[in-house]
Amino acid sequence: MAIRKVGVVGCGLMGSGIAQVCAQAGFQTVVREISGELVEKGLKGIEKNLDRMVEKGALTEAEKGEISGRLRGVTAVEELKGCDVILEAIIEQLPAKRELFAVLDGLCPAHTIFASNTSSLTITEIAAATKRPQRFVGLHFFNPVPVMKLIEVVRTIATDPGVYEEMLAFGAKLGKTPVRANDGGGFIVNRLLVPYLLDAIRALEEGVGSVVDIDTSMKLGCGYPMGPFTLLDFVGLDTTLYISQIMFDEFKEKRFAAPPLLKRMVLAGWHGKKSGRGFYDYADPANPKPMNL
Ligand code: 3HC
Repeated sequence: MAIRKVGVVGCGLMGSGIAQVCAQAGFQTVVREISGELVEKGLKGIEKNLDRMVEKGALTEAEKGEISGRLRGVTAVEELKGCDVILEAIIEQLPAKRELFAVLDGLCPAHTIFASNTSSLTITEIAAATKRPQRFVGLHFFNPVPVMKLIEVVRTIATDPGVYEEMLAFGAKLGKTPVRANDGGGFIVNRLLVPYLLDAIRALEEGVGSVVDIDTSMKLGCGYPMGPFTLLDFVGLDTTLYISQIMFDEFKEKRFAAPPLLKRMVLAGWHGKKSGRGFYDYADPANPKPMNL
């Protein structure tokens, strides 16, 4: 099947990045948000990223114009019915995802392939809301989407092998390196990353080291681009808590259990960089200061 038109549902941090890489790869891209303001905010973020690429000489003005010309923001879900592939990047809540896909299933032709960018829910439980689980995969991107090279392509026991190969090839066309992952909670990356991030919080709770010293240790001792607390603030503490709760529910293992400090911080509204406070205070964003926890 030739993929020409791609639908992206959700134009937040992940959805806007996904829409950008789809349009950059040459696909006609329709991106849907629930309000005009959110569409505008998402498209503005993409515009800013493309402008930065022009400034750096990675794109010409003409190429930027072509990419923007392939992108269309909409609010009505009906606008997605002509798409060959639909990528979902909405809120990480099962009922919302199932409801969306049930509607899309009724709207879209039989050939349309559905994909979810969920980080922690199983693809099987989302796909079960449709009558096409054989044309359903996970396509898990990483933040920031335009920069991170990996895409996890997730198959369920019901995914058609031909559809799966098509989606691996689609991931490569987006300029990403696809890896094959089965539909176990957290797939490959979060299965390993989430316990590491939660353990960093436990180490802090137990007084092993300070926020800055633990971050510095993992950056300089292991060559990680960000220490665990900088990464937690970047991913979002609310998102990490939510993922850990889903994974704990799935595996019932302590390594996925949320440490009390993480719960307290989320209750206090300290969600990381996006809310101005997390393990660091971002009052001066260029110079984050560790919080006194
Ligand atoms: N959007 C677009 N481009 C961005 C960007 C963004 N949000 N942030 C940075 N960039 C670009 C910069 O423009 C720069 O491009 P250039 O090399 O062409 O000039 C390049 O990325 C490097 O940026 P900087 O020099 O400003 O900063 P760093 O070298 O520190 O890189 C980083 C920033 C790429 C974010 C790096 O710190 C990193 O790789 N961090 C780890 C990120 C990570 O682990 N992500 C996965 C999170 S987990 C996840 O997403 C899964 C989910 O399910 C939880």
